[in-house]
Amino acid sequence: MRLGADYYPEHWDKARWKTDADMMVNANIKLIRMAEFAWSLFEPEDGRYEFDWLDEAIEFFAEYGIKIVLCTPSATPPKWMVDKHPDIYQDDIHGNPKLFGTRKHYCFNSDYYREKTRILVEKIAERYGNHPSLDSWQVDNELGWANTVRCYCDKCKKKFQLYVKNKYKTIDNLNKSYGTVFWSQIYNSFDEVIIPRAGACYDTCHNTQGQNPSLLLDFYRFSSDSIISFSEESINAIKKYSDKPVTTNLLDASVNSGTGIDYFKLSEVYDFVTWDNYIEFQWGIAKNETVSKDHSLIRSYKKQPFWVMEQQSGPCGWSKMGPAPTPGKLRLWTYSAVANGADTVVYFRWRACPFGTEEYWHGILGHDGKPNRRYDEIAQVGKEMEKLSKIYGPLQPKARVAIIKSFDSEWSHSIHQHVEGFDYDALLEAYYKPFFDMGIPVDFVYPEEDLSNYNLVFAPALIMVNENGKKNIESYVNKGGKLLVSFRSGIKDMNNNMLMETVPGVFSDLAGVEIHDYDPQFQKETKVSASFGEGVASLWCDVISLTTAKSLGVYVNDYYAGQSCFTVNNKGAGQVYYLGCDLDASAMEKLAKYLCDKAGIPVNLYYIPGVEVVEATDDKENALFVMNHNDYPVVVPLSKKYSDLLKDEKIEEVIHLAPYDLAILK
Ligand code: GAL
Repeated sequence: MRLGADYYPEHWDKARWKTDADMMVNANIKLIRMAEFAWSLFEPEDGRYEFDWLDEAIEFFAEYGIKIVLCTPSATPPKWMVDKHPDIYQDDIHGNPKLFGTRKHYCFNSDYYREKTRILVEKIAERYGNHPSLDSWQVDNELGWANTVRCYCDKCKKKFQLYVKNKYKTIDNLNKSYGTVFWSQIYNSFDEVIIPRAGACYDTCHNTQGQNPSLLLDFYRFSSDSIISFSEESINAIKKYSDKPVTTNLLDASVNSGTGIDYFKLSEVYDFVTWDNYIEFQWGIAKNETVSKDHSLIRSYKKQPFWVMEQQSGPCGWSKMGPAPTPGKLRLWTYSAVANGADTVVYFRWRACPFGTEEYWHGILGHDGKPNRRYDEIAQVGKEMEKLSKIYGPLQPKARVAIIKSFDSEWSHSIHQHVEGFDYDALLEAYYKPFFDMGIPVDFVYPEEDLSNYNLVFAPALIMVNENGKKNIESYVNKGGKLLVSFRSGIKDMNNNMLMETVPGVFSDLAGVEIHDYDPQFQKETKVSASFGEGVASLWCDVISLTTAKSLGVYVNDYYAGQSCFTVNNKGAGQVYYLGCDLDASAMEKLAKYLCDKAGIPVNLYYIPGVEVVEATDDKENALFVMNHNDYPVVVPLSKKYSDLLKDEKIEEVIHLAPYDLAILK
């Protein structure tokens, strides 16, 4: 378990480096990440490369034993390049270029940009690939950040036409698959196929401009694949000269909506994954369960230890700032990452920069570079990490509960939302939250992933699933698994067209139900009464008819009062629950407890709101993290005797935690 800091040697006078290095060593900062925006230093003019500035910095910090995460600087193509080749600009949905002046102003499908990137990355990898201080590589920075996953330029259009040609082979096949007979959209050749720029109906339906849903989904897949193939080019360029592991920093699903990229697929091409965790800043304040869910998602993409590559370390924002992290929070956030499976936490950034767009973005140090209370807090964490690292290897929670996350489903839901207020990510979080509260770890899985390790699997709004995914889920149930399928599952084909089978289509036989009527809850709510307790639906109500399932719950008002909302079906050695509606938070909690009971998962009855409890293991020893996110002290009951590793004390019965304090118990 290590700490690091994001560092920009080029922002500071060289005379300052020594103070920084001394302070880092004192705080047990073991590595620094560098160079992700330094293209114009590496290549100040077309074809003229300069490395002295970085040689000097790497050698300097090597003297202090500080390791380097070296980045490829492709997130900021320099001015000379865009002037020479304005066609590298990414176009927005109206076809206007996203011009120079910020960052991310490039199209992933520009051959010229890709070639210039490949040449530079190879040069960097050749020069530093075997440097003893090199720890690992980061490709680009936050791929797709600021809504740059989908580009609407002519280059993308040409490549998209090729993509659909490879996929559908004949234009007739594409026309059938897309249903272009609707609104007279039949194409005569692949050259005619459009990319979904703003059309005449843009103002009516901003999200998707009322475009063909099959074309939109393919365009989203194509855009995600473009970033994955761009990644592979940079990774290959690095691997030619270096055997150090390669990563990229992912975005959280919640505040930044980074999920225009299929992160399961993207993670396959990287050696490990990392993400950027901003919790209280200009663009929002994340809930505890949201941060925990995002950690779990990131851990799940590769099912191995991950890093936080940018962990908030001060008040931050561009034009306006979020609050200063209250004393204790930086430490708490770090441990929450570690408890949920991170083995390295890198703080963004070492010191606040006095110039540029992010002059308000505070790091560990303020603009004056002097030690402050944030530095002291991180130095304390650094000391504690040293101690922990002697006891444990990388820690991972071992989940027995899984939630299926499908990017195809996510994109399909974003294209056609079903009803005002429906949000796929929010629905997944609603399923995650009760487990977070109860201290029960949850993994996220893709539909085709091995499910055999889980006692309980949720498929919330899994609107489409391919043949392999379907078989995988069926075989999990047949072998004794417990599965919950929710409303809006199994009703579309992989082309984003509605199935003509009775709802829930793909899952009808498995769940033993048919839905002949449903009621989107537009400006209304419906109460339910079920085996787990009572609740309220405010998004959707499927009126369930039983085929082989048994009813476990009914609606209690509206015209479908008395009809089923919740069922169970025995299938093979397993059970399939079908929940036809959404539920309020308190009913979700009751449902989670009910299903844990059925699946033999012990429930912690003494959990306390705002106290995050995570048990993790390094496969030899367990560590119980108890973390108080509340601004008041709490007393947490314990079921066993423990030793408190940070305080070197024996603990029995209860543990007292001050606001934002935590304990690691063995
Ligand atoms: C991240 C980004 C960093 C920095 C930080 C503060 O999204 O990766 O480079 O910009 O936010 O805005």
